[in-house]
Amino acid sequence: MSAAPPPASKAGHSAAIDSAIDVLISSQGHASPARLERACALLRRRSPLHWVEREGVRPFWAVMRYADIVSIETRSREFAAGPRTYLASETAEAVLQRVTGKPQLVRGLTEMDPPDHGVYRAIIQAAFAPPALRAMETWLAQWAAEIVDRVAAHGDACDFAVDVALPFTFRVIGRMLGTPEADDARLARLAQAFVGAEDPKRRLAESPGDTMRTAMLALRDYFEAVVADRRAQPRDDLASLIAHAAPHGAAMPHYELISYFILLVTAGHDTTALALAGGLAALLAAPEQMARLRAEPELLDPAIEEMLRWTSPVRHFMRTAVRDTEVAGQRIREGDALALFFHSANRDEVVFEDAGAYRIDRSPNPHIAFGRGPHICMGLQLARMQMRALFAELLRRTDRIELAGRVRRVRSPFMSGVSSLPVRMSFRALRKEAAA
Ligand code: HEM
Repeated sequence: MSAAPPPASKAGHSAAIDSAIDVLISSQGHASPARLERACALLRRRSPLHWVEREGVRPFWAVMRYADIVSIETRSREFAAGPRTYLASETAEAVLQRVTGKPQLVRGLTEMDPPDHGVYRAIIQAAFAPPALRAMETWLAQWAAEIVDRVAAHGDACDFAVDVALPFTFRVIGRMLGTPEADDARLARLAQAFVGAEDPKRRLAESPGDTMRTAMLALRDYFEAVVADRRAQPRDDLASLIAHAAPHGAAMPHYELISYFILLVTAGHDTTALALAGGLAALLAAPEQMARLRAEPELLDPAIEEMLRWTSPVRHFMRTAVRDTEVAGQRIREGDALALFFHSANRDEVVFEDAGAYRIDRSPNPHIAFGRGPHICMGLQLARMQMRALFAELLRRTDRIELAGRVRRVRSPFMSGVSSLPVRMSFRALRKEAAA
């Protein structure tokens, strides 16, 4: 099942394409959005399905076009989600496989295929369905108001990504799982290290591999205790549902059990926090869009879709061909891995008019920031609800928000977006009184 020798069309490339691939896959590649746009545009134009061979990374196809990504994601019988789900260096893969003894680091929903995928997804599906989400709406609006109150109590300046977006989104998944707020900061740090180990600001150990290992073991220990507690005393939370689940009629195996929690605690907050911070950063960079949103709050829903398209917080997921097939006329061999670059798809000029412009009234906006097909993000409506609640509150409470320092972007081959956004907010008189 190893990658077959590349045919001529796979191997054909130029120095410009090589450096575009570097931008695409290096953990610092998204540091400059303009450079990233250029790299994605070049690849979409010149080699939209590009065979990548790089020292230290197992070869794979870089898939850049919207139509090809949607096609691969929806042909799930031909393209499996596991076992290679993320781009990682061979060294990191080896370190992590030594920890788990398995072909992948974790085996959560994102790594599963039938028959497990549907059965495991069904365990918590109801918690993400409209009735359950509607029941959360009041609490979510209150929580958005409270987090803005907390920031306002400390003055006008804050780091929106760190002080608002992160604690806001983490409490939402923490509340659903049933973990106490007192554990949020620690759990968020572990979850962020796990998916962003290349970022020195997220690192817990010397190397990215050791950081992931440390984070994974700490998360495992934490959730083992949670499972033991819920098995003894079930509650009305996701942790109890997962702890008591019996997929295929038997208790969930330990590896899948811990992976389930790790997936929720990582997927459930970092992505949404990055979309919130990146969405606000984009509004601050386009003051006419911000002014329009303030004047026409009914544009909030399309504005949020545009933030999702614009930020595309998940850089990629991977698929593996389970038999010889083809994509857009290119032969793909059994065992070939394909990395689906969502950011590039969401800037594809064939699908999006004026794709490089941030327009809060964009319509239609069929972005695939949440993926497509059977693995489509389970939390997509929850993420939208969180973004709506927080932006509605910010617009209501502030007259002006301005940038007050350097924007920093996360370094990770997997996540993309703004990890530090120093801002100054001018709170309306009403809120100043409330906060006083
Ligand atoms: C802006 C926020 C978010 C973005 C951009 C995002 C993006 C994604 C993407 C791209 C996938 C993979 C889809 C695919 O392979 O086709 C995914 C899967 C998933 N997401 Fe999200 N996500 C977000 C928020 C959330 C939230 C709040 C949760 C809540 C727990 C969540 C839970 C999940 C789960 C459980 C999966 C795995 C689904 C499966 O494999 O069946 N996500 N997400």
